Amino acid sequence: MTAQTGTLPPEGVRRMFDRIAPVYDAMNRLMTAGLDQRWRRETASAVVRPGDRVLDVCCGTGDLALAATKAGGHVTGLDFSTSMLERARRKSSAVEWIDGDALALPFPDASFDAATVGFGVRNLANVERGLGELRRVLRPGGRVAILEITRPRGALAPFYRFWFDGVIPLAGKVLPGGSAYSYLPASVRRFPAPEGLAKLLDEAGFEEIRWRLFAYGIVALHTGAAR
Ligand SMILES: C[S@@+](CC[C@H](N)C(=O)[O-])C[C@H]1O[C@@H](n2cnc3c(N)ncnc32)[C@H](O)[C@@H]1O
Repeated sequence: MTAQTGTLPPEGVRRMFDRIAPVYDAMNRLMTAGLDQRWRRETASAVVRPGDRVLDVCCGTGDLALAATKAGGHVTGLDFSTSMLERARRKSSAVEWIDGDALALPFPDASFDAATVGFGVRNLANVERGLGELRRVLRPGGRVAILEITRPRGALAPFYRFWFDGVIPLAGKVLPGGSAYSYLPASVRRFPAPEGLAKLLDEAGFEEIRWRLFAYGIVALHTGAAR
């Protein structure tokens, strides 16, 4: 199964995040009514044990990496957007922040006990390769957690479409880097449903794959262990 989900080439994705970095955290809080930080805490606590070496890939402005630190991990955060990383660095010096590519992680095999990705996998030009890299840098038995936006089914679907495909792109028009907020719903539309992501995780070499949904199915948290 292939999952080429990006509407932009990697360089375009990187530039887009460089542009929206100044408003990224505020937009997150606004779009999720403040729930995003709770989801990040749940993500970290699902896989991080005290003392773990943890890699947070696509760390952006660093909030999930910080949640992993609070869960007791020794955390490395990696991203390819300099502006997003700049903001992460200002938040904490307890995390090692690295400018790098999720599709070619600059770490030896089996370097980490746990890995997290928050709202990042959907942006990768090649999801399979990204998952393969996560598997490679985890020790056997190491745990992965992937937090990602998904599309709810059932009664909530029309409200979601109104909010996500209508209101968010409209809000983006009046903010810097507004085109990112048209990219957002488009990238979610193309991303596999939870079952599809579970299959990709299996194919990448993970087992014990489970997922749970937050906020009536708007966000999915997948967890697994490296085989
Ligand atoms: C939506 S933000 C998520 C930030 C953060 N994890 C959070 O929880 O808010 C996605 C991040 O993925 C990064 N990204 C996308 N593709 C990447 C790649 N190939 N390598 C490294 N970072 C990447 C972007 O620069 C951006 O900071």
